[in-house]
Amino acid sequence: MFMNADTRLQAARAEMAATYDLAPSAAAMRDTTAIYARVARVIPAADWMIHAPYVRAINALKGIKDATILAHNYMTPEIFHGVADVAGDSLQLAIEATKVPQQVIIQCGVHFMAETSKILNPSKTVLIPDSRAGCSLAASITADDIATLRAQYPGAPVVSYVNTTAAVKAASDICCTSSNAVQIVDAMDGDTVIMTPDGYLARNVAKQTKKRIVWWEGACIVHERFTPEEIRAYREADPTIAIIAHPECPPNVVAEADFTGSTAAMINWVRKNKPAKVVMVTECSMSDNVAAELPEVEFVRPCNICPHMKRITLENILWALHSGTEEVTVAEHLIAPARAAVEKMIALSAKG
Ligand code: 13P
Ligand code: SF4
Repeated sequence: MFMNADTRLQAARAEMAATYDLAPSAAAMRDTTAIYARVARVIPAADWMIHAPYVRAINALKGIKDATILAHNYMTPEIFHGVADVAGDSLQLAIEATKVPQQVIIQCGVHFMAETSKILNPSKTVLIPDSRAGCSLAASITADDIATLRAQYPGAPVVSYVNTTAAVKAASDICCTSSNAVQIVDAMDGDTVIMTPDGYLARNVAKQTKKRIVWWEGACIVHERFTPEEIRAYREADPTIAIIAHPECPPNVVAEADFTGSTAAMINWVRKNKPAKVVMVTECSMSDNVAAELPEVEFVRPCNICPHMKRITLENILWALHSGTEEVTVAEHLIAPARAAVEKMIALSAKG
């Protein structure tokens, strides 16, 4: 029988309610006391009442299903602190995906991240709680576009951000992430390097390398919204504030920052430096995740949300574990070349 998305959601909810104890309760609060202690600064108790039964059910089900949860730093705190087995930036998640012993990987992040896990683990089951979780960067370029760029710049190596589809990775020479882009570009042969699909990341890298960089004009819908005027206003309001930015931001925003790095590098910078006040110029949830553990740091929070990342919820994580959906597949012919591009990146990154 055909079921539309609404009917499927209702059916999934009914099945979960019949199987797990998902009503807010004192028992669920008690069973998750230790976890709540980690997020109490950023999640009110009334909200945790709703989350607690899901957190409890998910953590109990992981072992039964031989599953592990890999979560990006942009997940909301109840996911990041409540159910993730590994949390990290894109590079860390790709590396961890090659190490986890479990047969099932639940990717709490966007679709290209789940594809990367599948590419690195073709024999494992990779599930994404909502397969509509896309990415404006991944959507901005196709494998045909890579062929066009190669024709325009013959012989130039193609370095593609991991925020790309498996088909684009397969058409590229090597991948990079925000944490290793300069290192990867510097390691390429020749004077000219093609970087796709993030035009801002490419411009930011171009300032740190002797290579001539040519780029694709993709952009992250979260980071492209920040402006230098907005960042300067934070500094004017409090000259002692620390400003740290992600390299997907426009270069004139990065120029205003005290530090620029991947999401993991930004978190580590705050953990290490413990500024009295900080603004993390990136996706909104990350400040909540770090604020939960650092009461001594005041976070100024411009809230730019990634609508794709926010598609992942405790409810659909539980459903993914329960039902074994939605499974991420990668076409057989793409796996080997896409994997080569990702593995080359991991190997180069490891050289430091
Ligand atoms: P990193 O976590 O690798 O810095 O990437 C940020 C991002 O936008 C992922 O979608
Ligand atoms: Fe893509 Fe930007 Fe969302 Fe990351 S934050 S998934 S780069 S749209």
